[in-house]
Amino acid sequence: MHGDGPRPPTAIEPTARVRIAAVGDVHLGEDSGGSLRPALEELPDCADVLLLAGDLTRHGTLAEARVVAREFAELAVPVIAVLGNHDHHGDVPEEITALLTDHGITVLEGSAVTVPVAGIRLGVAGTKGFGGGFAGKCASVFGERQMREFAGHTVDLAAALHTALAGLDTEVTVALTHYSPIGDTLHGEPLEIYPFLGSYLLGEAIDACRPQLAVHGHAHHGCERGTTPGGTRVRNVAQPVIRAAFAVYELHPAVLTG
Ligand SMILES: [Fe+2]
Ligand SMILES: [Fe+2]
Repeated sequence: MHGDGPRPPTAIEPTARVRIAAVGDVHLGEDSGGSLRPALEELPDCADVLLLAGDLTRHGTLAEARVVAREFAELAVPVIAVLGNHDHHGDVPEEITALLTDHGITVLEGSAVTVPVAGIRLGVAGTKGFGGGFAGKCASVFGERQMREFAGHTVDLAAALHTALAGLDTEVTVALTHYSPIGDTLHGEPLEIYPFLGSYLLGEAIDACRPQLAVHGHAHHGCERGTTPGGTRVRNVAQPVIRAAFAVYELHPAVLTG
């Protein structure tokens, strides 16, 4: 990620920290306006940024997206989101992205953003991601056109996540997806549906770049905590899992060597 030799010393305080609030799968409907707002108004007391891990709507309609936009607009902390599969169901993900963006929400898809937080540069790279399953038990880009398209979609989005992560040069880096990069955080879900819940290719992209944290949603019956094979902490923040308006994780700048 930093191929040009050691970084120069920085002036970051040893006690510096970034408090990441995150939630996914809020699945707001047209009648959900205001349901999260009271809790969200408390965000500045406990977090520096809010990450939304997709499935913000129920059916991916613009009417639902307008509720989402109003719910998360004008918070006192930056809001960074990816869309989920439900947000694609209405076939208007670009319009939803534009609507959220108009309300000050950053929507990532194979892209990244850098946010200054308390003297630290926080980088967030995100993609919806997709399914396909996990090593040894996964779909491959082979056979019928439909199967190649299914497996290829994951390959493309994982590659985009890798590129977005690799392009960040930040003291604290987070990967944000809707689908899971690992199987650990799916425990509680039926094994038979793991290939529809995530892909190891997302985990490989994360392990190639080693962010401090990876956040995802989508697995409503999974568990909160896991780790990639390379050692990055993974948190499933699907609201049915965390059972709160949001979870908060504290991160410290990477130890700079050389
Ligand atoms: Fe969901
Ligand atoms: Fe989902």
